[in-house]
Amino acid sequence: MAYYVTTPIYYVNAEPHLGHAYTTIAADILARHMRQRGEEVFFLTGTDEHGEPVAQAAERLGTTPSELADRNSVRFRDLVARLGVTNDFFIRTTDDDHARGVSEILQRIYDGGHVYSGTYEGWYCPRCADFKTDNEVEDGDRCPVHKIELEREKEDNYFFRLSAFQEPLERLYAERPDFVLPRNRFNEALSFIKGGVNDVSLSRASLSWGVPIPWDPRHVVYVWFDALLNYYTALSYAGEQNAGLSREQNTTRSPAAGGGMELSGTGERDLTERFWPPTVQLIGKDILKFHAVIWPALLMAADLPTPGRIFSHGYLLIDEQKMSKSLGNVIDPFQVIETHGTDALRHYLFRQVGFGQDGSVSTATFATRYTTELANEYGNLAARTLAMIHRYRDGVIPQAAAPAALASAFEGLAERVCGHFDRVEVSAALDEIWSTVRRLNQYVQDQAPWQLAKDPGAAASLDSILYGLVEGLRVVATLLLPFLPDASGRLLSALGQVDDSLAAAVYGSMAGGAQIEPLAPLFPKVEAEAEPAAI
Ligand code: MSP
Repeated sequence: MAYYVTTPIYYVNAEPHLGHAYTTIAADILARHMRQRGEEVFFLTGTDEHGEPVAQAAERLGTTPSELADRNSVRFRDLVARLGVTNDFFIRTTDDDHARGVSEILQRIYDGGHVYSGTYEGWYCPRCADFKTDNEVEDGDRCPVHKIELEREKEDNYFFRLSAFQEPLERLYAERPDFVLPRNRFNEALSFIKGGVNDVSLSRASLSWGVPIPWDPRHVVYVWFDALLNYYTALSYAGEQNAGLSREQNTTRSPAAGGGMELSGTGERDLTERFWPPTVQLIGKDILKFHAVIWPALLMAADLPTPGRIFSHGYLLIDEQKMSKSLGNVIDPFQVIETHGTDALRHYLFRQVGFGQDGSVSTATFATRYTTELANEYGNLAARTLAMIHRYRDGVIPQAAAPAALASAFEGLAERVCGHFDRVEVSAALDEIWSTVRRLNQYVQDQAPWQLAKDPGAAASLDSILYGLVEGLRVVATLLLPFLPDASGRLLSALGQVDDSLAAAVYGSMAGGAQIEPLAPLFPKVEAEAEPAAI
């Protein structure tokens, strides 16, 4: 089945921070997991380069929007590669093909009678690129997100007749109770719709940095319409741009593909038929209204199928505040990766903050989770198990039956993990697997194989325990691959395991007899002075 997952496209008005890495990693985890299930995945991310946020930032920096976009888009692309993210395409809204796609769709909406010209008068936040209604405004004239003074705008615009979609939107929400997840966000979006939706500006006359309105090039497309349409336009040319690029067949295990799906050689240029509509669209809660209200209405107006699910995650908070470029309290993901590696960051974010909720991140909790969970629990379990196989069985995995005490811990595990992923419960999936890692550690503690090793009469029991541990490790490593692609990939290789599909994650299905390979520590101790300053 086709599985199309997207992240929001990021504003290039500044450099990427951990909040951006967060959504991209989540999408990568979903994509890798679905590939393990044998689904045909397309994973899109990219940069949002038009509009006021970028034009104003360029002006402040004394450069052109285009130059700033080029410079920062590269930083986002680098981050994607450094995170080991396996996106299939990286879209830039300054791509000519994207602009062409936007014009086509807007013309279609215009021809369909969903657009009229009028005058907008009201509040506008140039950082959000959002028109604010009176009840959204804070302290009389401030942006509730950026806390800056809002601008009073009055300009001639083209409007999208969003109000005409009130009923179709209500119907969509009635028919699809999981259109928006988690539930609280569904309720928030629905109550917004039920409160009555107003028409929204579709063009800006005062700005030139954008896609020209096809029927009136004195205007540019309002950046949110331009941006939202990326999810659709990308499919029309991603295949073409990716032709010639290829990725290792075993995509779940290749650590840093960073773009280019296995499309080369297929000659398929337009992927729209194959992947539209998106299966899951990940967003932060600040952009819920655009994705849960305007976006489906826009698609309905263009006569296109609406996405399967919009999943809104929460904020990463530092000292109780949203980490954000405009608030200046950002963490540099490049720095964290430098000291602790990508896996550590991937693990930390989804263990620390329940996906879908807000949660605080800090240096202290990062260091604790690295040491206690990654190094001591997972890393140590792997090191100990392999060391015992070496010491007691000359490095050969024993042929034995899996111990029943452990088998019960694995019963239904892969199915439960898949269920979580189907509902986009990324943290719950990780927690489920992690409790099994702990169970394995407990098992080693309880069985004390080093005692049994002293008793030649207990060889069969020791075989079974060691086999059970290796099997357990193999299954958790397979399930953990989307979260910890580097460490789990190395562990599976040391176990001689080639098949890392989810079909192989059945406890007891691997025969013994394989020779294990040496394994460097999965999560080495990090020197205190090398720890990142900010996290
Ligand atoms: N360009 C728009 C999105 C257009 S999508 C058609 C935009 N860009 S953004 O760069 O400002 O934000 C992109 C995403 O990063 C949003 O989903 C936002 O929620 C997320 N995050 C930014 N800061 C964040 C945190 N501190 N924590 C979690 N996510 C954060 O909005």
